[in-house]
Amino acid sequence: MSRKKIIAGNWKMNQTPSQAVALVNQLKPLVENQDVDVVFCVPAIDIIPVVEACKGSNIQVGAENMYFEEKGAYTGEISAEMLVDAGVQYVIIGHSERREYFAETDETVNKKVLQAFAHGITPIICCGESLTQREQGITIDWIRQQIKIAFLQVTAEQAAKAVIAYEPIWAIGTGKVATTEQAQEVCKAIRDCIAEIYDEQTAAAIRIQYGGSVSAASAPELFAQEDIDGGLVGGASLKPDFGKIVNYNK
Ligand code: 13P
Repeated sequence: MSRKKIIAGNWKMNQTPSQAVALVNQLKPLVENQDVDVVFCVPAIDIIPVVEACKGSNIQVGAENMYFEEKGAYTGEISAEMLVDAGVQYVIIGHSERREYFAETDETVNKKVLQAFAHGITPIICCGESLTQREQGITIDWIRQQIKIAFLQVTAEQAAKAVIAYEPIWAIGTGKVATTEQAQEVCKAIRDCIAEIYDEQTAAAIRIQYGGSVSAASAPELFAQEDIDGGLVGGASLKPDFGKIVNYNK
């Protein structure tokens, strides 16, 4: 089965609404590539103007987080229904920065994944090991645990549509990209884990991204790996370089 590549930008806490629109207008002509799904995951306050600015282009819009409850007294949170109404198709769940600074756990990740699917939003589910975990040789065990909990009660039909982002924490924002072999090894282990939880068909359908210091220089080799179906890009997604990353195959 051939999977369509998916290359997503994670803007993190960057770009005011007016800066966001200017950036979309700058990047729009650079990120045209029919072979790839292109997603801009943007701060919540930028979503509405970015959806408007992306109209008529190949860019789909994602959120960087959402809450797992339907609605109610959760001051400051944003629901799946709000995201859908604003035109969002993807949501990043469980980024390592949210796990580290905002106390997200595998259990809250699971609740958010279920809630995203309940509203027809595609979750981009993040996993990744710390440098200590890699050095201790427990990377694969750790990632398998994150995946197994994230997918609790998720049906095979839903899982086939999910996106998983493998982001080694030591590679995020450090300029230290994982080697192609390291990235492929873990992405394959994730696919094997999905096959174990579900079946081969689901494992063959699910898309697995690599993230962590992806650049125009490293993208072509990374995305050529059998089990790497694109990337989740931080810093470079805010620059014209993102156009080169999206067009890694040209
Ligand atoms: P960088 O590409 O800046 O390393 O960030 C990766 C990331 O965290 C994407 O979610």
